[in-house]
Amino acid sequence: MDIISDPDDMQGRARQWRSHGLKVVLVPTMGFFHPGHRSLMEYGRTIGERLVVSLFVNPAQFGPQEDLERYPRDLDRDVRLARDAGVDCLYTLGAGAMYPPGYQTYVEVESLSQGLCGASRPGHFKGVATVVLKLLNQVSPHVAVFGEKDYQQLMVIRRMAADLDLDTEIVGRPIVREPDGLAMSSRNTYLSPEERAAALCLYRALLAARELVASGARSRENILAAVGQIINAAPGTRIDYVALVDPTTLQEVEAIRGEARLLLAVWLNQTRLIDNTLLSESLLCCV
Ligand code: PAF
Repeated sequence: MDIISDPDDMQGRARQWRSHGLKVVLVPTMGFFHPGHRSLMEYGRTIGERLVVSLFVNPAQFGPQEDLERYPRDLDRDVRLARDAGVDCLYTLGAGAMYPPGYQTYVEVESLSQGLCGASRPGHFKGVATVVLKLLNQVSPHVAVFGEKDYQQLMVIRRMAADLDLDTEIVGRPIVREPDGLAMSSRNTYLSPEERAAALCLYRALLAARELVASGARSRENILAAVGQIINAAPGTRIDYVALVDPTTLQEVEAIRGEARLLLAVWLNQTRLIDNTLLSESLLCCV
């Protein structure tokens, strides 16, 4: 596995691959790999001939009071895990290489970035869209693969790719969960044992919503009431948002007609976790 840390070197390598007709797949990450990342890498491996994993903790997507400094990092371990997963190139660079002195260009996906996580993390999606566009320009992948846990992020990136006529297919992959149902996240490492136990309320709330819908419930009011009750009953939780939205526009819906996405963001004391699930009128089973 090659390790590349310079945007020009990355572009050069990508150009070579493309000139040989190789299909290039990018999995963008902020590192501290867990089985969720591993599943994106494994998927990437199956659809392409060159697999690049980018590892960049992007300062532009963290607010001033957020966890940029304490975001978990372990490059040696990530190198081992990427090698084990059959990655061809780990592209990891520092903030100075991504945003050299004088840097001043940002991308904004307007309406999709505003509500939900965008409301509690102002500027977050501007940082995400900017770095993802830069990574796509540096790696020139045919396909870029993202996890569905960050569902709003996936929609923002899809919109950006469509609006800016990008020549990369954006693929979303299912959430990977711990055996007890907690969605995999690098931020789970922040949780104390008590918070870790309480964090299961997100998954339980999603399951309850799916069961409600499977038994015929359709209205936003009923579904959100049940979800809110489960989350509020868990110790140390504070709901940031619970929303039932159209899966593409992310606009709130009053009732499930066809498909809707249930999105959650919940504080466990100082740690904010997100999760989501698809709710569909044809739903018969669990998450
Ligand atoms: O989902 C992430 O890990 C990050 O937001 C991403 C897409 C790598 C951009 O920094």
